[in-house]
Amino acid sequence: MNVNPLSLASAAEVFDLLRDDLAAVEAEFARQSNSPVEVITEIGQYLLAGGGKRIRPLLLLLSAKCVGFAGESRIRMGAVVEMLHTATLVHDDIIDDAKTRRGRPSANVAWGASKCVLAGDWLYMQSFHTALQERNFHVLDLLITLTQQMVEGELLQIEKLGRLINEEEYFDLIYRKTACLFKVSMQLGAALASSPTGIEEQLGEYGRNLGIAFQIVDDVLDLTATDEVLGKPAASDLREGKATLAVIHALERGTGADREAIRTVLEDGDFSRVKHGTILEILRRHGSLEYAMDAARAYAEAARQSIADVPASASRRALLWVPGYVTSREQ
Ligand code: IPE
Ligand code: IPE
Ligand code: MG
Ligand code: MG
Repeated sequence: MNVNPLSLASAAEVFDLLRDDLAAVEAEFARQSNSPVEVITEIGQYLLAGGGKRIRPLLLLLSAKCVGFAGESRIRMGAVVEMLHTATLVHDDIIDDAKTRRGRPSANVAWGASKCVLAGDWLYMQSFHTALQERNFHVLDLLITLTQQMVEGELLQIEKLGRLINEEEYFDLIYRKTACLFKVSMQLGAALASSPTGIEEQLGEYGRNLGIAFQIVDDVLDLTATDEVLGKPAASDLREGKATLAVIHALERGTGADREAIRTVLEDGDFSRVKHGTILEILRRHGSLEYAMDAARAYAEAARQSIADVPASASRRALLWVPGYVTSREQ
């Protein structure tokens, strides 16, 4: 599909289109994070107040609008996908022992890992509880399969730590841990209107492609950006022993010495023997960061192509804008 620039929305247009709905999702999340056990409410409110891009509810809302669904369920389900995402972040930061998230101390630093494991579990269940209100087995099926994929993704990642994985393993991992939730957010929007399977599939395919682009960019930013801009620890993937796309590219193209340097960092889990700057120099010399960004841009384009047959509307224009936002974002 040749995307006519006129068919692309601007950031302001997208924000205008969704302002009220996103505010309602925020309020719903706040309402849903109330527990009789005060510490759960405190952790929930802290996570909510930390902000975040809210890209998953944004996708769900646009998908629902695309199929002409305007019922209240879209707000509840928007909160559901953001709560699920938040629960995975809480657990991810415990697993990675991350000290910051969204520019503030991570919840595990503020409350300790034990309470946060439980608060994460509670949030997961609260999101299912909210989704149950739809009385829709397809919705539950999507969410349960998704949650298992995400847990499998995080587990596979742990098993591959410190290892030199190949591209196929990398793409499988990022599909499970990130793209699956993007896909399901889009599918849920369509499922609310009981849309024909074809439409749900196209919107889901858009989400899958976009989610892969999103995680590739997250991984490039982890290598190139600073803690201040990211609001979370930079260069953490290498320190955690995670080989991401640019690093895999350099491992395949690099000299023996380059491979050895990368291997050393992944094994050491720090930059004591090989500096971060040395790794960046290797990645730059082999064009590896560009390679990864080219891959992200290709997936972003594939996302646009996935909705070529979706009828034109303001929400479709917005969906055509999101991939460009994802590949040019700085945090
Ligand atoms: C972080 O997601 C986890 C990844 C999938 C990379 P986001 O980058 O969407 O995090 P927030 O919600 O904006 O903080
Ligand atoms: C996202 O991957 C994992 C989740 C699905 C929570 P990352 O491990 O790269 O996320 P960040 O970089 O910590 O946000
Ligand atoms: Mg992490
Ligand atoms: Mg990351």
